[in-house]
Amino acid sequence: MPLMNTYARFPVSFSKGEGVYLFTENNKKYLDLVSGIGVNSLGYNHPIIINAFQNAIKKPLHVSNLYEIPQQNELAKTLLKDSPFHQTFFCNSGTEANEGALKLVRKFQEISGNTQKNTIISFNHSFHGRTMGSLTITGKESIKTGFTPLIGNTKILEWNDSEELKNYLEKYGHTVAAIFMEPIQGEGGINLPNADFIKTINTVCSQHNIVLVVDEVQTGLGRTGKKFAFEHFGLNADVITLAKGMGGGVPIGAILAKENIAKAFTPGTHGTTFGGNPLVCTVAHSVCTEILEKKFLKHVQDTSENIFENIEILMQEFPTILLQQKGRGLMIGIEINSAENRNLLVNELLKKHILTVASGEKTLRLLPPLIIQNHELAIFWKALKEILQKI
Ligand SMILES: Cc1ncc(COP(=O)(O)O)c(C=O)c1O
Repeated sequence: MPLMNTYARFPVSFSKGEGVYLFTENNKKYLDLVSGIGVNSLGYNHPIIINAFQNAIKKPLHVSNLYEIPQQNELAKTLLKDSPFHQTFFCNSGTEANEGALKLVRKFQEISGNTQKNTIISFNHSFHGRTMGSLTITGKESIKTGFTPLIGNTKILEWNDSEELKNYLEKYGHTVAAIFMEPIQGEGGINLPNADFIKTINTVCSQHNIVLVVDEVQTGLGRTGKKFAFEHFGLNADVITLAKGMGGGVPIGAILAKENIAKAFTPGTHGTTFGGNPLVCTVAHSVCTEILEKKFLKHVQDTSENIFENIEILMQEFPTILLQQKGRGLMIGIEINSAENRNLLVNELLKKHILTVASGEKTLRLLPPLIIQNHELAIFWKALKEILQKI
């Protein structure tokens, strides 16, 4: 085997894409409700992306961060516009964005004279990435086994447990630098924060001078029908991290931060060779500009409504198998009655040429390209119903 054995892959590969469809070498057509796990927001072969690439390849693909890169400024302005953030750092992935944010908050507390404040709080069922820091704050023990020692001074608390958070901070608030959270837990099962938890997080962060870092790697840039998902919940984010959908397929990540925090990074404190190179910034800029069009986000919201209505109908027909629907926009989870049935659904749907993805213990997750239309989703409803009838 020429590749390291890190993925349990499905035995299929794709050589062409068009809109929301992927095609095998033999021209077998698959409906994609995964988007490369939230990456291909504009689907495949989108003229905006093709055009951006054509423009980018006429210029240097890569220029060192030793020099000015105007494409970074353009993209940063688009991301920061109408947001509470003032500055951006570009990197190559979600885990790198979180790793950078971990460094940023520790540096910020240190230069603010809060040398005791270096603990990072995060939550059970969270996923923040695979590098040492982001892995440490990820709330899933099974993927950490064998990698100790991880980074120090972190604490994982229960998701949606305001009392535990308050109690912990009453004792240790003076040692906490930041809270990291996903606005909707993506890998953990499409788990939304409850209203009391949101209120508590906002309150304790301002009470204890804690930086709130919202990991928008999966939820960001239109996926939930708003630019950022924290807007749905009124979370007072100080820093956010982005990746996945902002690039439409090119590897890019970003940290957005309020000015007082962002200025903790000075020349030499953080950096990357590839991060924010002209090629990825040009493409990401075109993708983000398109997504942030009012009518584009409206399409995401309308399509989401239609999906929730359809799930509701199926839930009434199959109440013992489909237990709950959750999510926002086009980040949707259907809670299935068992892990076995969830896995069966993913596999049977694949046999019918529809790509879906598991999440958490027993959630079927849908992350379609944001351009998907109701008539394309109709293929999924029909297939899902047929499989449910057999179960
Ligand atoms: C919320 C969240 N944060 C971080 C990551 C890690 O991103 P990447 O795989 O680009 O390193 C992911 C990936 O699934 C994610 O969903």
